[in-house]
Amino acid sequence: MKAVIHKGKKGLEGVQVVDFEEASPSSSEVKVRLKTAGLNHRDLFIPLRHGEDEPAVILGSDGAGIIEQIGEEVTNVSVGDEVIIIPSLGWEKNSPAPPKGFEIVGFPYHGTFAETIVIPAVNAVSKPRALTWEEAGVLPLAALTGYRALFTRGNIQAGQHLLLPGIGSGVATFILQMAKAVGAKVTVTSRSANKRERALKLGADAAIDSNADWNEQMNGEKVDIVIDSVGQATFDKSLQQLKLGGTIVVFGASAGDEIKLNLRSFFYGQYNFLGSTMGSNEEFYDMLDFIKKHEIHPVVDEVFPLTDALAALRHLDSAEQFGKIALKMD
Ligand SMILES: NC(=O)c1ccc[n+]([C@@H]2O[C@H](COP(=O)([O-])OP(=O)(O)OC[C@H]3O[C@@H](n4cnc5c(N)ncnc54)[C@H](OP(=O)(O)O)[C@@H]3O)[C@@H](O)[C@H]2O)c1
Repeated sequence: MKAVIHKGKKGLEGVQVVDFEEASPSSSEVKVRLKTAGLNHRDLFIPLRHGEDEPAVILGSDGAGIIEQIGEEVTNVSVGDEVIIIPSLGWEKNSPAPPKGFEIVGFPYHGTFAETIVIPAVNAVSKPRALTWEEAGVLPLAALTGYRALFTRGNIQAGQHLLLPGIGSGVATFILQMAKAVGAKVTVTSRSANKRERALKLGADAAIDSNADWNEQMNGEKVDIVIDSVGQATFDKSLQQLKLGGTIVVFGASAGDEIKLNLRSFFYGQYNFLGSTMGSNEEFYDMLDFIKKHEIHPVVDEVFPLTDALAALRHLDSAEQFGKIALKMD
């Protein structure tokens, strides 16, 4: 089968489209013939983290396709079922943090940028009928991450004001739609005027320039919650927009992991600082029910053929996208 692997040189230089041997499912696994896959920022980080001497790994955490083969103990799906893939491995029940041994599809185990994938049967769930293959393929990781950050961790309520820096992020476009669905007010930021305009069309109440003076742009209005995945470049500005006692949730740090924090103003402000990461299978089912109920569709920025995966990764690296980038297998 065709697959997009990382091997050898660090970064995108080591990413290649190759012929790769197909795997067979064990008794508790299924083989999925993939129709589409979705890109995440993680697919840019893995080629930097994966050692130059390590065996090739197929990239990709998100995907959707049709069950082609099942192990003899599998009962939750059948051959021919249309499924999407839960990217969390080993986090089935809700818990405060991922259990020991938690991994994500796409490293260290082979991922979805291929014509087929073998995964544990519990990681294959019915594809919502209302979603196209492209929408289904880009949904899993980002929608799950957004759902946990916004609801399980952020506990957003109708009428609350949410600030969402870097709306170009795939996860942020899900959070925007989910927050609007429960009646929150949402202000987003972006460095791009085009993305600010698109966010307003998608339902944002206000959109400000990430590089501008946010105090001025917000006209003194403070927010209840900030969900920030940009990191170093925006964290301080984000914190300044919080109401006293407000909550900041962090699940990523695209622009750098290290921040400077004034502890005195932090504790006087009674702020809550919460980390979040992906989510459990139980949260995944809740997320699916939520997107079905509120008729949410992922924002698909562009679809590339599998063989053009490198161009798709470069597009993600350039941060020009709004929403999710998909790969199509045929
Ligand atoms: N913990 C988890 O489970 C988890 C899950 C998913 C993602 N993540 C992390 O969350 C982050 C977002 O992921 P994603 O795939 O949604 O991201 P993405 O699609 O790559 O988007 C990142 C966005 O961040 C903004 N940004 C980046 N650098 C910036 C800078 N220097 N200044 C201002 N804004 C900047 C940009 O927004 P504009 O273009 O609008 O300016 C960019 O589009 C990544 O760090 C990713 O690794 C973590």
